Amino acid sequence: MSFNHKDLLGLEHLDKKTLQIILDTAKPFKSLFTRSVKKTPTLIGKTVATLFYEPSTRTRTSFEIAAKRLSADVVNVAINTSSVVKGESLIDTGKTLEAMKADYIIIRHSLAGAPDMLSRNLNASIINAGDGFHEHPTQGLLDLYTIYEKKKKIEGLKVLLVGDILHSRVAKSNIWALTKMGAEIAVSGPPTLIPSCIESLGVKVYYDLDKAVKKADVVNILRIQLERQQENLFPSVHEYVELYQLTKERLAIAKSGVMIMHPGPMNRGIEISSDVADSINAVINEQVTNGIAVRMAVLYLLKPKRKNVFSD
Ligand code: CP
Repeated sequence: MSFNHKDLLGLEHLDKKTLQIILDTAKPFKSLFTRSVKKTPTLIGKTVATLFYEPSTRTRTSFEIAAKRLSADVVNVAINTSSVVKGESLIDTGKTLEAMKADYIIIRHSLAGAPDMLSRNLNASIINAGDGFHEHPTQGLLDLYTIYEKKKKIEGLKVLLVGDILHSRVAKSNIWALTKMGAEIAVSGPPTLIPSCIESLGVKVYYDLDKAVKKADVVNILRIQLERQQENLFPSVHEYVELYQLTKERLAIAKSGVMIMHPGPMNRGIEISSDVADSINAVINEQVTNGIAVRMAVLYLLKPKRKNVFSD
């Protein structure tokens, strides 16, 4: 097994073999959760710093739990009360953490490419926890793991992503990873929220959600980013709900074993109805649990303090 990456910046440049190594590594970490002693000494003496310039519940907490289960020390930088508010640059903040011997820096930032910039300037392993509209690689990996765990395969599955594909870093990481693993990807949403070039990635586009839902083995519902509604990318939330909410009526026309996913946070009653979110088809809580296993695998596999061999 060969894994020589210093950083995890995205899934676009990871090959199928590398993705499979991460999935295979996550599996024993998941079984660790069922034991009474949930910790392993793997990263004892290592320091993990989280640097979140945007809000997060799942990703930051999940990384913290994952790092603690591997016995690392964890430092959460509170951006609002840090020297960032005095104008400190991202690189200087990163170098400050590295001077304190942080081995891993987990960063979420509104600017696409911010994790890449840190990776080029630091020896610590940089993990992208979501950068702008670019990628959210550990979300893509936990989605991949959840599909693999439940469906026992990925090759040949029809995976439908619904909603705001244009602004979704989760959608991009899902598309890169699932395509490499042999899934057939389709997207559905308003034309203004579907990137015009998406078909060149081998992705099918459906503006009619009912048609798309009938064919899918897995439906991954994306959050409607209400904060972007001021850009008038769809006429109204009411119209979005009519055309694109996954309702129990739409679930009824889907295949019986269809798997419903959502990366969270959910807008219940907008992109997904509450009864669908709480239905037996939904694996939303399992996704959260699997996030810890996948993030443990990523922390375990990455090699800090080596020259960056992942990004060119
Ligand atoms: N899925 C996800 O990234 O959730 P958070 O924003 O809560 O981290």
